[in-house]
Amino acid sequence: MFPEKGLAREEVLERMRTLKKADADWQGGRTWSLIYPAGEEVDELLRDANNLYMFENALNPFRFPSLRQMEIDVVGVTASLLHAPEGADGCMTSGGTESIIMAVKAARERARAERGVTKPEIVLPESAHPAFYKAATYLGLETKQIPLDKDLRADVDAAAGLIGEQTALVVGSAPNYPFGTVDPIPELAALASERGISFHTDSCVGGFLLPFLEKLGHPIPPFDFRVPGVTTMSADVHKYGYATKGASVVLHRERDHLMKYQLFVFDNWPGGFYGSFAMAGARPAAPIAAAWAVIHYLGEEGYRRLVSNAYEAAQRIRSGIEAIPELRVWGDPLATLLSFGSEKIDIFAVADVMDDRGWHLDRQTGPNALHMMVSPIHARVADTLLEDLRSAVAHHGTSRGTEARYSGPAD
Ligand SMILES: Cc1ncc(COP(=O)(O)O)c(C=O)c1O
Repeated sequence: MFPEKGLAREEVLERMRTLKKADADWQGGRTWSLIYPAGEEVDELLRDANNLYMFENALNPFRFPSLRQMEIDVVGVTASLLHAPEGADGCMTSGGTESIIMAVKAARERARAERGVTKPEIVLPESAHPAFYKAATYLGLETKQIPLDKDLRADVDAAAGLIGEQTALVVGSAPNYPFGTVDPIPELAALASERGISFHTDSCVGGFLLPFLEKLGHPIPPFDFRVPGVTTMSADVHKYGYATKGASVVLHRERDHLMKYQLFVFDNWPGGFYGSFAMAGARPAAPIAAAWAVIHYLGEEGYRRLVSNAYEAAQRIRSGIEAIPELRVWGDPLATLLSFGSEKIDIFAVADVMDDRGWHLDRQTGPNALHMMVSPIHARVADTLLEDLRSAVAHHGTSRGTEARYSGPAD
């Protein structure tokens, strides 16, 4: 019911603090998705940046030139990180899903305009994020799933057989969410480009992770605009870019050719010219400000340090899991995401015990597994987690059942 009378400010805040008590303890490193904590210093900066731009609206870039400039800067640094060539461009969106929806929309328009495609299809690995299915549902495309090979990467031969006249977009992930593996991007992108089809690398998770791992000397397979057939990419500043939520970048290899297919313009109404590159109308300014602030605060040096901390923690966790005879890490995750299960015991029963000890590990199926996205702050809880995991494996009973298994959508 709509409140008849307003409450005192302190009471409003107190009620929210009470509601918040049921929320996950992400600051203590107990959650393994949804939030990517980089430590208190970064959090402090993000609070200030959000505060500074709480009320502005990024819909009209001419009214708030500072926002326009910050968006250009964030898109520019992301493009250079991902080796986008001269003439590339992009925009900020509210998150990975919106970036993906915009890439799908652009691919659909391009396929219609350039190849007369009337029943557009997306060819995508089984491990691709649900955002592509959401985009397909919203925008009227069909989807065709590429099966995974034994290493849990998209099977290139199978992909070749699925691409056809009506394919508007081929997709690969770097890395994918479920296993943290990177699809064979050069091979998939070549299949698309030799037929004049758009190719999207989904590096929502990897966009601010893989480039720094590469700079640190880790072997990273080609995934970005250095691969000739990649036409669009998504990279989320609100994941391993460490910005607060609502910040992603979608990039096009060629502004003049490809990005025009993303644009929406309208002037057949009394309200004046209206144009926008993404789904939202009114747009919050704070995520743009937070993204700009954290990128400039950390700089390459700061990202290298944080990525290195997260990677080291992820490797420690991976080795700890691999040392437990009942458990197995699925595939060969090469960054900070991993999932693990078992061929010997019920992994969801282990998860139940971990739940009771206050760890929030997301469950997934196909194969049954527990999932982790490791952040820099997990370095300080990695050993305790492994201790609890060893004991949970030793003392698990039977799983509480399917109801307990569903832990809600993860990020
Ligand atoms: C690989 C990948 N792509 C896309 C997304 C969607 O991003 P968002 O939740 O910001 O919409 C995610 C989310 O985790 C992801 O892991």
